[in-house]
Amino acid sequence: MKSIASAPAKIILFGEHFVVHGTKAILAAIDKRVTVTTTLTHTGTLKINSELGTLEIPISSSYKEAKSEFRPFIFLANKMINSNQNVNGLEIMIDSDIPIGVGLGSSSACCVAAAASISELFKELSSEEILNLSIEAEKTIFPDTSGADCTICTYGGMIEHPSIEKIDSTFDLNLLIANSMIPHSTKNSVEKVSKFKENNEERFSQLCDLENGLIDEVITAMKNNDATTFGLKMSENQKYLEEIQVSNDTLRDMISSLNEISLGSKITGAGDGGCVIALVKDENMDKAPALLPKDKECFSAKIDTKGVVRSTIEE
Ligand code: MEV
Repeated sequence: MKSIASAPAKIILFGEHFVVHGTKAILAAIDKRVTVTTTLTHTGTLKINSELGTLEIPISSSYKEAKSEFRPFIFLANKMINSNQNVNGLEIMIDSDIPIGVGLGSSSACCVAAAASISELFKELSSEEILNLSIEAEKTIFPDTSGADCTICTYGGMIEHPSIEKIDSTFDLNLLIANSMIPHSTKNSVEKVSKFKENNEERFSQLCDLENGLIDEVITAMKNNDATTFGLKMSENQKYLEEIQVSNDTLRDMISSLNEISLGSKITGAGDGGCVIALVKDENMDKAPALLPKDKECFSAKIDTKGVVRSTIEE
């Protein structure tokens, strides 16, 4: 039997980093996906195939000794196998069109799709159960995760975190994503922000209050069909991200270039590299590539409404 599940990439529109320290955030799923296919085998092994490499280990091996990119899959496979003693082997294939390590949620989407794909072979889980499993899996590589990324990859659409309330946009969100092509480590950036918090407790607490207030204003702006305020709030949020030092010259230059054709722009995700997003008027979309250095990639993103999708095939 074979089980196939896919999950979307994500962007954080507002609230990255602060969300790790308890603030609200607004996230959206976008139209790029990872697909995980799991097959029951008789090899006595767990085999994982992805663009990052192949691993084949005895079925009961611990995730702790494996390279970090394989850990969530081994963790999920172990969890399912432990409660289903008659499983002899599993093969997990990962196919993705989400760029890795640039803030678009590749690792969270993998955890969600893998949790759905592996579990579906044994038991039908609710979306909430898949989400909880995927967060546990993500914690094998990033223990401090806020869980916001796995949440949007599970439910899709646009949501406020942590309430998981769906947000309907009253205007067309023409979002441009520009990749700085600088890889980053979310874990390292989050640790850096925690140090900033330790050294600047009072200011960090003020910034958290400002972020929560800003998100309330964004929700009101969306209800009022007010794209201009939405864009201005993106740029205001960027100032907070500059202050906690997750930006750099490359990202600042990209943001300032994109500001020429957008209503607002900012880092999305952990920063220190990765991607920036801009709210761009339709007629200006084609102008973006010429404004950015030649080594940067950009594309327009559509909101994905489906979230995690699963199916099984009897063989
Ligand atoms: C990373 O996509 C978002 C961060 O806020 C970390 C997290 O929420 O776990 C930086």
